[in-house]
Amino acid sequence: MARILLVTGSSGLIGSEVCSFFAREFGYIVHGVDNNQRAVFFGLQGDTRWNQQRLQQELKGFVHHELDIRDRAGVLALVRQLRPSAIVHTAAQPSHDRAAAIPFDDFDTNAVGTLNFLEAARQACPESPFVHMSTNKVYGDAPNAIPLRELETRWDYADPAYTHGIPETFSIDQSKHSLFGASKVAADVMVQEYGRYFGLPTCCLRGGCLTGPNHSGVELHGFLSYLVKCNLEGREYKIFGYKGKQVRDNIHSLDVARFMAAFVGAPRAGEVYNLGGGKANSCSILEAFRLTEKFTGKPQAHAYLEQNRIGDHICYYSDLQKMRAHYPAWDITVSLEETIRQIVEAWRRRQNG
Ligand SMILES: NC(=O)c1ccc[n+]([C@@H]2O[C@H](COP(=O)([O-])OP(=O)(O)OC[C@H]3O[C@@H](n4cnc5c(N)ncnc54)[C@H](O)[C@@H]3O)[C@@H](O)[C@H]2O)c1
Repeated sequence: MARILLVTGSSGLIGSEVCSFFAREFGYIVHGVDNNQRAVFFGLQGDTRWNQQRLQQELKGFVHHELDIRDRAGVLALVRQLRPSAIVHTAAQPSHDRAAAIPFDDFDTNAVGTLNFLEAARQACPESPFVHMSTNKVYGDAPNAIPLRELETRWDYADPAYTHGIPETFSIDQSKHSLFGASKVAADVMVQEYGRYFGLPTCCLRGGCLTGPNHSGVELHGFLSYLVKCNLEGREYKIFGYKGKQVRDNIHSLDVARFMAAFVGAPRAGEVYNLGGGKANSCSILEAFRLTEKFTGKPQAHAYLEQNRIGDHICYYSDLQKMRAHYPAWDITVSLEETIRQIVEAWRRRQNG
């Protein structure tokens, strides 16, 4: 009998990639949970129905559940009914700027919604791997205290201890997180606890910039996707401080799904990984402009605002050494250039169709 995979946030960037990947590569019957809350958080620009419809058309056997992850009884009933072989939890309020305006929705979704699924898994399928999408915002703004050096188009770490990037041992304590970062810390620690205390095969993936052609990028979330969209539409992209030299590490959603599959195939309990593109796939905003222009042939209109976003990282890239040590068959397969090329192509297709 085909195994069942339950994916929350299935209409979003990562969730949809996971649905396609596990169905295509391993023959899972995929059940997705999503209520298009992204459109409530970000307005019509954040609408993910197109992606839900794409999955329903393209994935044989895909079942969509219009369920709010805050609905505890609904979550428990669904997990009890399906008893999935694995759960990938990607549904979230994903923006740190947005969280300040909707603190209860943010916490109830990110922290309590995660607990709803953890407890349902413990009751119904405690042997099934549980993969949770966390974020590098759990480190708060502590990475900004690392001494930096200023290069022509980007900031970089001056301290050789961070040559490979930020490791999982970095402190998540006593820094400014934004309310989003704090609600994600609560979820992250709870996911670890269900692994360490109850022995469930759980992991937290602390994402850098996760990206790819299926993102519904908006100004408050989805850096590269939104930047490319602005370029194609000739719209001004606003840079918030740090001279536009702030560095992000970008990972294609396919490489995220590939890592999740590696974990599901050989799970551990209560693990934490920093999942980003690493130094090789990092870029500053200024560098992202140049790469995007290369593929669109259009100059990037932009405005510079002196004030940085509260708690925004000046330079962040993930140290991938632990992931590579635990899962040596996994590595980054999609370069930053190829990722941007695909995002350009996808926005062109969506705008024309
Ligand atoms: N994209 C990034 O750069 C990034 C970086 C670090 C971490 N993450 C984390 O990865 C995960 C996935 O991010 P993404 O970029 O795919 O986000 P996304 O917004 O594209 O997808 C999340 C999906 O969850 C759904 N959702 C939200 N609240 C819900 C609720 N209450 N009930 C049911 N569905 C709900 C949304 O409608 C959306 O389709 C999130 O946990 C996010 O915090 C993302």
